[in-house]
Amino acid sequence: MERTLLLAKPDAVQRGLVGEIISRFERRGLQIVGLKLLAISTQLAKEHYREHVGKPFFKPLVEYITATPVVAMVVEGPNAVELCRATIGATNPVAATPGSIRGDLSMQVGRNLVHGSDSVKSAKREVKLFFKTSELLTYKRATQRWITE
Ligand code: RTP
Ligand code: MG
Repeated sequence: MERTLLLAKPDAVQRGLVGEIISRFERRGLQIVGLKLLAISTQLAKEHYREHVGKPFFKPLVEYITATPVVAMVVEGPNAVELCRATIGATNPVAATPGSIRGDLSMQVGRNLVHGSDSVKSAKREVKLFFKTSELLTYKRATQRWITE
């Protein structure tokens, strides 16, 4: 079963959109296996976004993600990584499809509300960065057979 890391970024917390954002993934059918509010340190931000080191938007990106707390979440399901990326929408909200989180609720790339791991490999690395094994829970949902075959 696939897992992926999601972040409701500081703008989502500030704008009171955390519930709305979590809801989108819940309603899609994904199962929440880890969830917490945390302040991202500069060190964690640089590690999390290490693929972007040296890019012109790296400094503002680190400032953005460390500005105020975020809600971090791990969700599970078949094709969780791809499903979540589709639910989040394109990086630049101008190009994000209406119906996606970014396409419905945001306007600019530097305030795009949500992070989702971009591959299974990234998801494994990022889940470990944000959650201890003991913080990820395994449990069965009574509704599961009505969500997946
Ligand atoms: P994320 O990692 O946050 O889920 O976003 P993403 O995969 O859709 O996009 P990525 O290329 O990984 O970029 C990470 C975040 O950096 C900011 N960004 N700003 N000003 C710019 O051109 C620019 N490009 C990217 C965005 O906040 C983006 O989500
Ligand atoms: Mg990314």
